[in-house]
Amino acid sequence: MKPTPHRRHLVTLADMPRAEMEALFALADRLRQPRPPRLLDGRTVVNLFFEPSTRTRVSFELAAMRLGADVVPFDVEHSSTQKGETLLDTLRNLEAMGCDQFVVRHKENGTPGALAEQAAGNVSIINAGDGNHAHPTQGLLDAYTIVRHKGDLANRCVAIVGDILHSRVARSDIHALRALGIGELRIAGPAALLPAADALPGCVVHHRIEDAVRGADVLIMLRLQKERMQHALIASDADYFRDWGLDPVRLRLAHPEAIVMHPGPINRNVEIADAVADGAQ
Ligand code: CP
Repeated sequence: MKPTPHRRHLVTLADMPRAEMEALFALADRLRQPRPPRLLDGRTVVNLFFEPSTRTRVSFELAAMRLGADVVPFDVEHSSTQKGETLLDTLRNLEAMGCDQFVVRHKENGTPGALAEQAAGNVSIINAGDGNHAHPTQGLLDAYTIVRHKGDLANRCVAIVGDILHSRVARSDIHALRALGIGELRIAGPAALLPAADALPGCVVHHRIEDAVRGADVLIMLRLQKERMQHALIASDADYFRDWGLDPVRLRLAHPEAIVMHPGPINRNVEIADAVADGAQ
């Protein structure tokens, strides 16, 4: 079994057509088995995480191991990057040791893309999140989850709510859902946490959570990313929850069979109430 798409690097979903996404979803369907084929036998995967991660890092490690790769859990805090070694020199040294797949998370937009431009010909770079630019594997995962639950997206409505400004997940979700022909894509958040309209192609922007949620088939709640804020952009967590938190009352405005998603980590009772986070939907 071979993956249908032969993309060497995965930096963004902006250039990924629907057919390629659907081929990846079909491959993912085939790999959802206890003992998947060892598609990565002979490969060496390095996880280069310059920002904290739980889900992305561990899921990449597990996926690589289960598909037969050797996995290097690179510890950035104890690496020579702390002594001033550049990321490109780090890449070159690891390439020379036979590492050929790099999963990269970095706070600076464009870092995985820059590495992809410099990588040796046999080496692949996968973006595991760069600044507020892109989180393509989260975007694929979210789109795959929505398609599994809701089928064809042409008549579906997805609402993405919260800190859109700082969210690489929102950007990749928008690329994925538009490529898959989403019927209606709503964006909502406080004015201080919304990017310029031209950064939200094909989206309808709402300024009240109730308007975004009403009748929606899928609600994607986003984390308030205080670590990316230069100064306070919201008055308080309590104010944010009052105005933008998804609680059971607001959830009842959505389609009765709506699903609620959140990329994690969640701030409980800030962007989403316990009762919703732990609820059936
Ligand atoms: N969704 C996500 O990227 O989670 P982590 O930051 O824990 O990897």
